[in-house]
This record gives sequence, C-alpha cells and structure tokens, in this order.
Amino acid sequence: MNIIIVKDNQEAGEIAAEMIAEKISKNPKLVLGLATGSTPVSTYETLIKMYKNKKVDFSQVKSFNLDEYKDLQPTHEQSYRYFMNTKLFDHININHNWTFVPSGTDTKNPETYDLEIEKAGGIDLQLLGLGVNGHIGFNEPGTKFDSKTAVVDLTPSTIQINARFFDSPAEVPTQAVSMGLASIMNSKEIILIATGANKAEAIYHLVHGKVSEQWPCSILQNHENVTIIVDQEAAKLLESN
Ligand code: F6R
Repeated sequence: MNIIIVKDNQEAGEIAAEMIAEKISKNPKLVLGLATGSTPVSTYETLIKMYKNKKVDFSQVKSFNLDEYKDLQPTHEQSYRYFMNTKLFDHININHNWTFVPSGTDTKNPETYDLEIEKAGGIDLQLLGLGVNGHIGFNEPGTKFDSKTAVVDLTPSTIQINARFFDSPAEVPTQAVSMGLASIMNSKEIILIATGANKAEAIYHLVHGKVSEQWPCSILQNHENVTIIVDQEAAKLLESN
C-alpha cells in the first residue's frame, strides 16, 4: 500500500486529481469509479480547473459512482446523482450518458450495476472516501467481503453524520444502494482519500488492523494497487508517523 501524507484536504485533492488526469492521458477511455461526500470535492474542483486549462479530456471516459441514497430522486438536491452533476459532470466534457450512478428509486435488481461495470470492461481507477466507522462505499461494519451491489442499511452513526446535509432528521435516508466490497475490490487500482482527525481510527485499521468485516476498509490490505492520501490528522495513529 502506497501512503502519501499531505498537509490538508486541498493538497490531497490536487494530488488525486493529478493521478486521475495522468491515467486518463495514458488511457483516454479510462473507466473511473467515483465517490461523493465532502472529501472528494477538492479533487473534483481541481479536475474542473485542469479541464478548463485543457490538461485533461473526459470525452471518452466512463464513470461509475459508488452509491446512491435509497428512494431519493436523481433531482433531489441531496441525491448523489445531483451531487455528481453539480460538482463535476456539468463542468467537464464527459458524456452524461456514460456517467452511471446506482438508481435509488429502481432498486429491484441492484446487482445489474455490477454487470454494467463488467460490460464497460471493469473499473480502471476507483476513488474512495472513508467513513468514520471504516465504511467504503456504504458498506458498513459487518458487510460480507464477497458483497456485490445491493440495497444496504446505514448504521445509526452514519445516518447521524449524514444528517448535516438534510433539513430535518426525518428526511435523512436510512438505506442506500451501494457497490459491494467485492465490486470495489475488482477495480484495477484504488485511491482512497481521508482527511481529519475523525478518520484516524479507520485509517489505523485500514493500514495496520486485522483484516476483518468489522472494519470494511481493512479489506484494502488484500488489494495489490492501493494508494491512500491522508493528512497529518488522519495519519496520526499510523505507526511510522
Ligand atoms: C460516498 C461514500 C462514502 C463516503 C464516506 C466519507 O460516495 O461512498 O463512503 O466516502 O462516508 O464521507 P465524507 O467524505 O463526507 O467524510
């Protein structure tokens, strides 16, 4: 596992964006796996700047997002489809028909999402954030390592953390559709970004912990091409730090 320690989320975003742009320049038809949440916003802002400066061309890129809240319409301001459109896709030259986000409203056969990914040739580069409890995607503690895309329950702590984006507690979704841990592990390369002291325990388990379903992120120890980009605060429990 390659570990890059940076000063803050902005620098993490700049490094991740450079890595993504370099991959696209080598393979213009890159299949990108994307994340939402507050962590990757600086990555997306940097990618938009690079696109405007003609440093990256998304015209042949396909993207697959990790997850979507169950029952939120794509037009809902807190849906992850809306997030991706407004924070990235509307500002770059990606073909919108090639941007995939799991459906939160048609949830009868969520596993077809994995087939779509396979049809596209698999994910070349997956960008991940990290939950305080170690979730990746919305795969909460206890999720089976062989899980594929499915409707998942969010834990009370995740629901509470997500509540900051909603007007009232009753509106906060309690379920999501998420790529599974096996789906994520199928990606050829993974970049995970985590910043802030509240991610330090999960980063410890990701890097040094026992590989266990209690810390879903620990599965990444079994992947051969993972880079984690962390700030000093998120890295504070790492043994070499
Ligand atoms: C989002 C996702 C989640 C987030 C995680 C961290 O698509 O899959 O795993 O990456 O909850 O969220 P933030 O970045 O808001 O701390």
